Parts: sequence; C-alpha cells; structure tokens
Amino acid sequence: MPSKRILLLGGTAEAADLARRLAETLAAPDGVIVSLAGLVKPRRPLPCPMRVGGFGGVEGLETYLQNEEIGLVVDATHPFAATISAHARQACDRTRIPRLTLARPPWTAGPGDAWQEVESFEGAAAALSDRAQRALLALGRRRLTVFAGLTGIRFTVRLLEHDRHKPSHCRDSVYVVNRPLFQKDRADSRENSAPRSGFDFSRSALAAPADPLPLADYEVITGHPPYSLEEERRLMQEKRIDTLVIKQSGGAAGQAKLTAARELGVHVILVARPEAEPGECVATADEALAWITGSARPSRILASKSGHPFPGRRM
Ligand SMILES: NC(=O)c1ccc[n+]([C@@H]2O[C@H](COP(=O)([O-])OP(=O)(O)OC[C@H]3O[C@@H](n4cnc5c(N)ncnc54)[C@H](OP(=O)(O)O)[C@@H]3O)[C@@H](O)[C@H]2O)c1
Repeated sequence: MPSKRILLLGGTAEAADLARRLAETLAAPDGVIVSLAGLVKPRRPLPCPMRVGGFGGVEGLETYLQNEEIGLVVDATHPFAATISAHARQACDRTRIPRLTLARPPWTAGPGDAWQEVESFEGAAAALSDRAQRALLALGRRRLTVFAGLTGIRFTVRLLEHDRHKPSHCRDSVYVVNRPLFQKDRADSRENSAPRSGFDFSRSALAAPADPLPLADYEVITGHPPYSLEEERRLMQEKRIDTLVIKQSGGAAGQAKLTAARELGVHVILVARPEAEPGECVATADEALAWITGSARPSRILASKSGHPFPGRRM
C-alpha cells in the first residue's frame, strides 16, 4: 500500500467502484483523489476527494503529481480515452511514479452474434455504406463527421445530454471537491439525485440537438445509461434499426445493446479500441484493489503497445 496519495483517473463505472472500495480500505480518508475530465459525473456520490478538469497536458499532470505528493496513479479511464492514458504514462515515467491501468476486457462475440470489427471510425463508415438503411450510432458525437458523406441511410444518433453540444475544453472548468460528492457541490448543482437510466421518448428528448450534426438524414435521442435490455430492444424495434455502430468499449453495463441486436438480427459494427499503453494492467476493481494492497500481482503486463491486452472473454 503506497504511503503517499493515490490519483485515480476516472470517468468509468469501474473507477467509481474502485474509489468506493479504496475509501473503505484506506486508513486516511483523503488517501485517494479521483480525477474526472468533467464531461461525465458519477451516478452515485463518491466517498473521497475529487478534482475535475484537465491537468494541462503532460507537464501539467507532472506538476500535479509532484505538488500533491502522489505515490501511485491508477488509470481507470475509458478504453477510448487514449490521450489522458498516454499523458499518464509519460508523466509517471518522467516522475518515476508507479502506474496501474484498470481496463475492462473487450466484448467477444458468441453464437448468434453478427459482428463486424473495424479498425477505425472511417472503417465503420465504409462498412455502413455497404449495407445499412437504418443505423443506430452510439458513439458519442466527436467522430460523427466520418459519416457525413453517407446518403440513403436514416441515422438514429444516441447521445448523452452533454453531447448534444459541441465539446468545450475541460481545462476551463478545473475545480476541486474535498468532501464526498455531490449534494451541495458545483459538480451536481443542477440535480441532487442520480439521473434515472433509460431513454426519454418524449418530444423534448427527441428534439433536434442544440448544435446540428454533420449527417444527411438523422434524428437524435438522448438518455441516461446504462440501458436495460428492454429499452435497447424497444429502441431498435421502434426505429427499425438494421445496423448498430458502437465502440469496442467492453463492460457489463453496455452489454444489453449487443444482446438486443442478437435477438433482433441487427448487424453490429464495432470500432476497435486504440492501442493500450504499456505497463501493469488489471481488468476489474477487485484486481486493482488486490494489487494496490499488495495481495496480488497484476493479471497482465502490457509489454508493448501492439500487444492485445486481454484473452477473449465473454462479458
Ligand atoms: N472516450 C470515451 O468513449 C469515453 C466514454 C465514457 C467515459 N469517458 C471518460 O470521459 C473522460 C474524457 O474522455 P476523452 O475520450 O475525452 O479523453 P481523452 O481524449 O483521452 O482526454 C482529453 C483531455 O481531457 C482531459 N482528461 C481526460 N480524462 C481526464 C481525467 N480522468 N481527469 C482529468 N482530466 C482528464 C485531459 O486534459 P489535459 O490534457 O488538460 O490534462 C486530456 O488530455 C475520460 O476520463 C474517460 O474516462 C470517455
């Protein structure tokens, strides 16, 4: 167990889970600091100090690690959050601070699944143009421009509420929360309880996004993940979806859309993950806790960026 503080880079369910487990385990209540970019907030309060907003690149993170006397960095960010993971590796290498990656395994296809894995978002657009008439895009809004040239496809675009607007740089909104989130803090000033999950099929939820999307023919639907199997089934049926396009994110919370697609015979295009940063890596919050408390070694060491991090495993 490191005597200095732990910086937990979060933004995922696994990171929130680990934060809660660490808070129960660590002797000092402020022994772990959770860092969020500020786009996604935890669904439930976290029982440890938190900071929100970018660090200002590798140098900013390096300075932060030194100023806050961080003894361990746990990178539990989303598998597609490649920039912050690269920054964490570089800053830890330079400061010689140990780093552990918590990365959930990717999904793997089972019997009855019709999956097509592509290497890039551009590959997903090419695959779509070959076959789709009604596609569900559940990718966030950042990479939608690659689908801009596609005609003859009706897109249903699923976004988080904050994604309805073009992203602003999170560095503008750095702030620190030194007590359990969120009841009175700025981070949650708009609502005191966790948002309910599911889609809102009401008129307001289906309204055009504040910033238009670069697609020829589309409608937007917003919701609060995780979505249940019933919700995923209903969405795909109501919109008569023939193709689902998603990132190879992995994780139990996103599994329902894949199950619904299999049941309904919907073709699935998965965009492969960016290469993981090399280093010590675990797959679950339990494994991370065991590693941090010294009771277990990592389940896997990523030797190079080209290595496939996990054996095939169904979530
Ligand atoms: N990408 C996804 O599909 C996805 C899905 C679900 C959740 N998330 C979560 O959302 C956050 C942003 O994702 P992204 O894809 O935009 O990341 P990204 O492209 O890797 O990072 C962009 C910048 O955001 C800041 N940042 C990202 N994660 C941060 C964190 N945990 N704490 C402090 N600063 C952070 C850093 O700014 P500076 O350079 O200024 O330090 C980073 O350079 C991540 O924390 C991730 O876990 C991402």
